[in-house]
Amino acid sequence: MKKGDSEKISAYRAAVSQMIGHPKVREMDSYIQHGKTTCLSHCVYVSWTSWRLARLLNLFPDEVARGALLHDLFLYDWHVTKLPGLHAFTHPKRALSNAEQFFELTPREKDIIRHHMWPVTPALPKYASTLIVVFADKYCAVLDTFGMPRRFRSLMESLLEREL
Ligand SMILES: [Fe+2]
Ligand SMILES: [Fe+2]
Repeated sequence: MKKGDSEKISAYRAAVSQMIGHPKVREMDSYIQHGKTTCLSHCVYVSWTSWRLARLLNLFPDEVARGALLHDLFLYDWHVTKLPGLHAFTHPKRALSNAEQFFELTPREKDIIRHHMWPVTPALPKYASTLIVVFADKYCAVLDTFGMPRRFRSLMESLLEREL
């Protein structure tokens, strides 16, 4: 672990403390997202990456971390369960509807979940901070598929406070 990581981990965990241990968030570990990566690992990876970028850009990092953590809370295995419509277009709406059932969300957090697939879903995000998650989601999806960096895998144990 790099010097300064433990402070960053504490600050990140404080931002997502109401969500990261929630049973519905943990349920995402039952569903594969990309390659061998579960939805939970993917969402934590996107959330951590987005939070760090948002801190650098001074763009609402804690809301970005929370929206990103919930951005794929659709709660099914899209490789197995075939619902009406193409998953790529329909899952942001379902993730938002689930997230609103379990958590109080800010407009920025809702925008992140609803528009994270932009430009695949063409409606424009309302906030610049959503674009951070739009970018981080695509970046992390590639690394999920081809292998998450080893350093991040051990960091994830600390973010989730459990062995993965
Ligand atoms: Fe997604
Ligand atoms: Fe995603």
